[in-house]
Amino acid sequence: MALLEVRDLDMVFGGVHAVQNLSFSVRPGTIHSVIGPNGAGKTTLFNMITGLYKPTRGAIYLGGDAVTAKPPHELARKGMSRTFQNLQICFNMSALDNVMVGSHLRLNQRLMPAMLRLPKLKKADSACREQAAELMKFVGVGQYVKADASQMPYGALKRLEIARALAAKPKLLLLDEPAAGLNNTETKEIDELIQKVAHSGVTVVLVEHDMKLVMGISDHILVLDYGKKLAEGTAEEIRRNPDVIVAYLGGA
Ligand SMILES: Nc1ncnc2c1ncn2[C@@H]1O[C@H](COP(=O)(O)OP(=O)(O)O)[C@@H](O)[C@H]1O
Ligand SMILES: [Mg+2]
Repeated sequence: MALLEVRDLDMVFGGVHAVQNLSFSVRPGTIHSVIGPNGAGKTTLFNMITGLYKPTRGAIYLGGDAVTAKPPHELARKGMSRTFQNLQICFNMSALDNVMVGSHLRLNQRLMPAMLRLPKLKKADSACREQAAELMKFVGVGQYVKADASQMPYGALKRLEIARALAAKPKLLLLDEPAAGLNNTETKEIDELIQKVAHSGVTVVLVEHDMKLVMGISDHILVLDYGKKLAEGTAEEIRRNPDVIVAYLGGA
């Protein structure tokens, strides 16, 4: 069964039909990329899948359950997590606290009864802190465990966002342009990190402009053009698809 299924999705903003009649499914254990020019509707698609936007039409299923327009915290509890195209880091907090925010999305309800019994809460908090530090090491920013977010360079913050998303212990992780603004070396490191995340058993949906990265790591690629599905298939199929070559690669 598909882990994520999107059926007949539409999103209209005033006169802009940002996503049109879009259907696709994501198999568990895969890296599934969504590509397309700026304005193609990729972020809008993520915003609908993660409950930030209510689709104008259509349905979204996670592990077979209808989750259309469910609030983000509920989706987090069901195993969905994401990063943002524009960094969503709290710069007045420590790096570690930024990561811990991710686990609180999932833990909050269970923590409520514990709040009445302080020692238990303390234990949960220190476990959460330890886990956040582990995740920072996992994504390769272990040297910033004691730092404030404001002390970290941009490339490290992109990874910190991934650590925060992983803190919610997702089954499905959506990454919106994780390599945007990174140099070649940093992009290669993100490439390796995404593969490491996928190998750890998390299904990845990736929006990314770096074609080398996308072609190299994707099990499946969906190409959007003006909100519509232009093509989908393996990297090899996409590379050879005449519609993709004309519309997306500009005939190159
Ligand atoms: N909140 C919004 N309100 C109005 N228009 C929007 C909104 N979000 C996105 N759009 C429009 O939807 C289209 C797709 O945008 P977006 O999903 O950001 O594309 P991509 O991520 O592929 O670059 C664009 O024309 C954009 O201007
Ligand atoms: Mg976008």
